[in-house]
Amino acid sequence: MKRPSTLYRCANCGHSEPKWLGRCPECGQWNTLKETAANPRVSKGEIKGESYSLPIVAIDPALGTRISSGNAELNRVLGGGFMRGSAILVGGEPGIGKSTLLLQVCATMETKGRVLYVSGEESPAQIRMRADRVGALKENLEVLCSSDLDRIMGAFEAVKPVLTVVDSIQTVYSPEAGVVPGTANQIKYCTQEMTEWAKSHDSIIVFIAHVTKEGLIAGPKAAEHIVDAVLAFEQAEGDLRALRASKNRFGSTEELGLYRMGEKGLAELSDPSGVLLVRREGDLPPGVAVAIVHEGSRILLVEIQALTVSAKAGLTRVYSDRIDASRVARIAAVIEKQAGLKLSDRDIYINVAGGVRLTEPGVDLALAAALFSARSDNPMPKACALAGELSLAGEVRPIRQMARRDKAARTLGFSLILGPAEQPSGKGGAPKVTAPDWTAVSSLKAMIHALWGRV
Ligand code: TYD
Ligand code: MG
Repeated sequence: MKRPSTLYRCANCGHSEPKWLGRCPECGQWNTLKETAANPRVSKGEIKGESYSLPIVAIDPALGTRISSGNAELNRVLGGGFMRGSAILVGGEPGIGKSTLLLQVCATMETKGRVLYVSGEESPAQIRMRADRVGALKENLEVLCSSDLDRIMGAFEAVKPVLTVVDSIQTVYSPEAGVVPGTANQIKYCTQEMTEWAKSHDSIIVFIAHVTKEGLIAGPKAAEHIVDAVLAFEQAEGDLRALRASKNRFGSTEELGLYRMGEKGLAELSDPSGVLLVRREGDLPPGVAVAIVHEGSRILLVEIQALTVSAKAGLTRVYSDRIDASRVARIAAVIEKQAGLKLSDRDIYINVAGGVRLTEPGVDLALAAALFSARSDNPMPKACALAGELSLAGEVRPIRQMARRDKAARTLGFSLILGPAEQPSGKGGAPKVTAPDWTAVSSLKAMIHALWGRV
């Protein structure tokens, strides 16, 4: 089929049509289609011995190298630092500390090249003040206060930054992308243009996006498809902040970065194993159990709090936004069936102290202990911490890194550690049964017996 030599491209949304139309079928705007040259197809004669593809071994491995951001928590979440030529979106609610974090990263970035901080939100004086406060005065850091895409692209050419931070993507504006600033079209268009520049110059670009409580709003959502990684910066509890990836082309999305907001900006919590614990005088109240979780590559001890009350209207509900509610419902069902403690007529509330979201299966055992303790009104022994996954049949399944979890809990003063008897063998073999240092429990019943001596 012969390709058309011209195309009609919508100035509002970028949609193209082979024929001129009065109204763009994509965005519905009138008189926005403009004639442009279609990408000419390369004819055989033009290649002159060059081929379209190239052998994989001929690709320069330096293209895939990483640069440390100088911020260990961010490096961890990214999977080992920034990948050259990558684009990253960092979302979070207003006031959470996005500008602070990224200004700090501009200063700690391990590069001799230049770094550019573009702000459409604050004045140079405000940025200087924050930089003074967090210690971000660096010779190689340039600041541009503008939301005009053309000026920003001009600065890219002039500065040739190794890293650019755009604060925020919602403020950047180009007349090319329609008349209204801040729309999804604007964000898509501007993100695309800046990302293309970064990729073609092997430069790193970070977009800051404001997100509401309900999650990403339409505009930044559209930008998610363009970037390589999407990070969420969240408030855990008080001055504690958590950073997580929801998309990461260059690493896992399991890692958790933790910070504390203080006088001098965001301090990294490099050993957070005990920061989420609640210190108490005297005995524990019923409904509280300590879980040893393995989030990403490290061990955290967290307090799980459970409350059960009789359901108001016959219809029971699970209120749990830090642990998946379906997991909570499953554990409640296992307790009812295997330990004969009725929970199906109860509303269940689950909280995780410190406010961190837990996704790891090893939290099951502590969740079960907290629920059982809440419903039976029996407090847990204070020295106890637990880890293990529960099957529907009430068996305690092996989990990864149990020995490390045991050690971390003992370091923090726990002496009664409950965990699975078996360890995963890895590589698909049968589970290993070793004599563990911790108290091995094979089932939910065995756990209850070990804790309260009955069932
Ligand atoms: P900011 O980075 O401006 O948030 P965002 O860009 O996500 O909207 O930070 C906002 C809050 O952080 C503000 O309430 C002040 C506080 N803060 C500190 O507590 N310590 C500091 O060193 C800095 C710079 C800010
Ligand atoms: Mg800000």
